Amino acid sequence: MSTKTFKAFYVEETEEGSFNSEVRQVPYSFLPKNEVLIRVRYSSLNYKDALSASGNKGVTRTYPHIPGIDASGIVQEDRSDKFDEGDEVIVTGRDLGSNTSGGFGEYISVPADWVVKLPEGLTLETSMFFGTAGFTAMYGVKRLQREQIDPEEGRVLVTGATGGVGSLAVFFLAELGYDVVAATGKMNEESFLKLLGAREVINREQVTNVGNSLMLSRKWNGAIETVGGEMLDAVIRQTNHDGAVACCGNILGHELNTNIYPFILRGVSLLGIDSAICKMPMRLKIWDSISKIDVSKLPNRFITTVHLEGLKDEVERILKGRQVGRVVVIHD
Ligand SMILES: NC(=O)c1ccc[n+]([C@@H]2O[C@H](COP(=O)([O-])OP(=O)(O)OC[C@H]3O[C@@H](n4cnc5c(N)ncnc54)[C@H](OP(=O)(O)O)[C@@H]3O)[C@@H](O)[C@H]2O)c1
Repeated sequence: MSTKTFKAFYVEETEEGSFNSEVRQVPYSFLPKNEVLIRVRYSSLNYKDALSASGNKGVTRTYPHIPGIDASGIVQEDRSDKFDEGDEVIVTGRDLGSNTSGGFGEYISVPADWVVKLPEGLTLETSMFFGTAGFTAMYGVKRLQREQIDPEEGRVLVTGATGGVGSLAVFFLAELGYDVVAATGKMNEESFLKLLGAREVINREQVTNVGNSLMLSRKWNGAIETVGGEMLDAVIRQTNHDGAVACCGNILGHELNTNIYPFILRGVSLLGIDSAICKMPMRLKIWDSISKIDVSKLPNRFITTVHLEGLKDEVERILKGRQVGRVVVIHD
């Protein structure tokens, strides 16, 4: 690396419980000494990044810190001999951006087993259209497929549908022929969700304002549920016999109050998704499936592009639940 510093979106704790973020030069010594040094060309913004950028110690234990759970870029050095200098690669999840300096810096240094060679069919830029959000959405699709939730069996629900994971879950499921119902708090985005492939768009309160019955009328054959809390409980109680709910999010909190009857009287399966830890064979399969998706079908306004300087506003927006589609971060 020719310079002694690199540019990054840097978050520090100014006093106990108070955090400041700014774009600045950071010494190279800030990076951990891992096997693969990567020059980051693109990153993307996920809800978890916004938590890390705003001082959430459940995500990032110690500050100062550079967030960014996604990165695509070019290998500069590799001590593992798995990669050549100049290889185009992707890193998503694992500990990147959580407690390891992340993709909001121009460089990352990571263990070799976190690194995936850029699959044919994707570019460094388009891989970050998907990033962890797309990876998680495709993981959810694969978990539903493993439970034999097939397109012809009935409707599939996606919650948090305008968000990163939700919007890509709508898109992937629709591309695979599923009859997708998108639940959103932003009914003004109905046409956007239909462009992504939703057959029907409903207000999220139609899912949650349903009372306390132990089981509700059966509406969904499967679901990708990104919000958690009372939303997850309601979706479980509305899921059909032998249906499955893939869950990944905790926007409404970490608690789940539900009851046993949907599981033992309807055979509903609850499928947990952890994209960060996902093992390499599955990781490669997920990226392979993503690489076969035709990105040109994504609506024009699906991607918002920012430089590091524009990240602060986007972090605020995602924390307020106002995100629509995906934010891709470009390094100069
Ligand atoms: N387990 C994993 O591997 C994994 C991976 C990625 C993400 N996640 C988690 O999945 C969740 C979604 O991540 P993301 O990156 O897609 O976030 P995002 O882009 O912010 O999307 C979240 C969406 O949830 C909906 N929402 C926001 N506030 C809500 C509220 N109060 N009640 C109900 N719905 C609300 C909104 O969609 P609408 O307005 O359309 O309803 C929002 O756009 C987060 O909890 C994230 O940490 C987990």
